[in-house]
Amino acid sequence: MGQSTIDVKAVRKEFPVLNQSDLAYLDNSATVQKPQRVLDAVTHYYQTENANPFRGLYDLSVAATDAYENARQKVADFIHAPKKQDIIFTRNASESLNLVAYSMGRYLKIGKGDEILVSIAEHHSNMLPWRMLAEQTGATVRYLNCHKDGSLTVDDLKAAMTPNTRIVAVAEISNVLGRAWPIADFAKVCHEQGAVIVVDGAQSVPHTKIDVTAMDCDFFAFSGHKMYAPMGIGVLYGKSEWLNKMPPFMTGGETIDIVTTDRIVWAEVPHRFEAGTVNVGGAVGLAEAIDFMEDLGLDQIEARELELTTYAMERLKAIPHVHIIGADEPENHHGILAFSIDGVHPHDITTILSENKIAVRAGHHCAEPLHHYLGVPSTTRASLSFYNTREEIDRLADAVGQIRKEMGYDE
Ligand SMILES: Cc1ncc(COP(=O)(O)O)c(C=O)c1O
Repeated sequence: MGQSTIDVKAVRKEFPVLNQSDLAYLDNSATVQKPQRVLDAVTHYYQTENANPFRGLYDLSVAATDAYENARQKVADFIHAPKKQDIIFTRNASESLNLVAYSMGRYLKIGKGDEILVSIAEHHSNMLPWRMLAEQTGATVRYLNCHKDGSLTVDDLKAAMTPNTRIVAVAEISNVLGRAWPIADFAKVCHEQGAVIVVDGAQSVPHTKIDVTAMDCDFFAFSGHKMYAPMGIGVLYGKSEWLNKMPPFMTGGETIDIVTTDRIVWAEVPHRFEAGTVNVGGAVGLAEAIDFMEDLGLDQIEARELELTTYAMERLKAIPHVHIIGADEPENHHGILAFSIDGVHPHDITTILSENKIAVRAGHHCAEPLHHYLGVPSTTRASLSFYNTREEIDRLADAVGQIRKEMGYDE
């Protein structure tokens, strides 16, 4: 990967929040800041095209429908889905994953004796829907343990699968370890063994190129707000061979073709899965965010984030008593650095960093079973976007380097 040519000074000017104070915003895995052009696209939609889509035959409603459906096509192209009908708009990755667990669980008639294999590193959003499905149906959730460096191989997957494994749920990139797993290879194994693979792409979409067709996953979920779009819009990609057979998750307006008092014919996909008035403004913002990322260049984003991760790891590793969770290599972190400091609680770390105007996150990052598995109750997570700077990383490392002293330790 070559050196990034992103003009960071110029690009930062596009983000109002980054310019309103000297906060070093290093909580990008939680959500990223939004560029002005995304905010403008949403405002422009509400100023010029707002109407309830699908329901009106007048021009304004048609414009809203077009805006929404164009956004769907843009998302399909962005992740290389075969067609726009394979894209369902949701509120966020959590809703997308709940949708799959509920609808696919019912379609597959998951029940007693069936196993759902979930990686131990999953965000609760890709664990709890499966736990609930198991609780409700008598199926069993089993865990796919990664190695301490965050790696997970095809052999690990093969060893954990049994003839009863019907669903495998894994993140492409963990929100704590930052490590990418070989999803295309996993999908091959799952399909050979008759299982369905559900991929949580919430942390991969902001950092890497996505090709769901090459990956050959059955489902792929992500959130707009982690990729420069507004909150409240998310995506579920699904193979049409499944989507066309699955029952709706939520029902209501737009989910039907025909309703009489004794008969329901569900609408075609994707409308069957988009109950009620949809979030056109959010979809428009997501389409603009995709244009923004593509204008910067996904290769450039990746290269820049690797440069920053490399520098941040160098600086943090040089500080005594600081331990980064997961791999040693920056390319296995994708800007996500969860760390601990001997003898200091992550809440104290984040409070001290906040006093230094540095925003990071403390806790289990919605991956509590992973923290138990790694034997650490919680961690502090700094997470980077291409718009961060070496100066911000210096501020983080300088402040981290002082924390033990501030807490009363001699060194
Ligand atoms: C890996 C992963 N999956 C799922 C989610 C849930 O995303 P959302 O809260 O947008 O639904 C997150 C959010 O942090 C995440 O990091």
